Amino acid sequence: MEVFDTPDGLRAWSRAHRAAGRRVGLVPTMGALHDGHLALVDRAREDADVVALSIFVNPLQFNRSDDFTSYPRPLDDDLALCRARRVDAVYAPLAATMYPDGFQTRVVPGALAEVLEGAQRPGHFEGVTTVVAKLFHAAEPDVAVFGQKDFQQLAIIRRMVADLDMGVTIVPMPIVREADGLAMSSRNRRLSAAQRAAAACVPRSLDAVAAAYDAGVRDVATLVAAGRRVVDAEPLARFEHLEIVDGATLRGDPTAGPGCVAVTAVWFGDVRLIDNRLL
Ligand code: PAF
Repeated sequence: MEVFDTPDGLRAWSRAHRAAGRRVGLVPTMGALHDGHLALVDRAREDADVVALSIFVNPLQFNRSDDFTSYPRPLDDDLALCRARRVDAVYAPLAATMYPDGFQTRVVPGALAEVLEGAQRPGHFEGVTTVVAKLFHAAEPDVAVFGQKDFQQLAIIRRMVADLDMGVTIVPMPIVREADGLAMSSRNRRLSAAQRAAAACVPRSLDAVAAAYDAGVRDVATLVAAGRRVVDAEPLARFEHLEIVDGATLRGDPTAGPGCVAVTAVWFGDVRLIDNRLL
């Protein structure tokens, strides 16, 4: 496995493989790797001959400095997991390499970034699109794999790739869950044991929404109330939002229709977890 810390190093690696007729896959991550990330690697390998994984905790996409500083960074463990999973190249640049002095250009997403997470975390998606565009320029991948846990991020990146003619195939990967249903996330490791147990209320609240939807309920307020009740019953959980939106436009409607998605964010102490469910 090769490890690069400059865009030029990664680009030369990628170009050599592509010149030899091999397809290059990219898995962008912020590290603190778990089985969900490793599933992205396996998925990338289905569509690519060689797989690169990037590890970069991107300061541009954090709107809270405490969240950025406390984000886990177990680089040695991550590299060992990548080796064991036969990742071909890791790209782990320093912030000063990604954003050198004088850096000032951003990729500004459109309406898809104004709602949901975008409304709660100002500037977040601009940070995501900017870094993903830079990662694509460095890796020049044929295919890149993103998890569906970050449902809105996936929609915004697809839009960016289409709008800016990036020529990268974006592959979505279903959410990988723990045994109790909690979506895998690097932030889960910041939960105390009690918070971790309580966090199972997040997927359970989405189960409640899905059960009501399957039973024929289409009134969004009723669906949201069914999900919110589950979170409100958990003393360690602090409800932030639960919305039912159209899966393509991410806009809400008083009546849920085909292709809609329930998206939620719930706090446990200072840890914010997100999850979603296609209805
Ligand atoms: O989903 C993530 O881990 C990040 O938002 C990404 C895509 C790696 C960009 O920093």
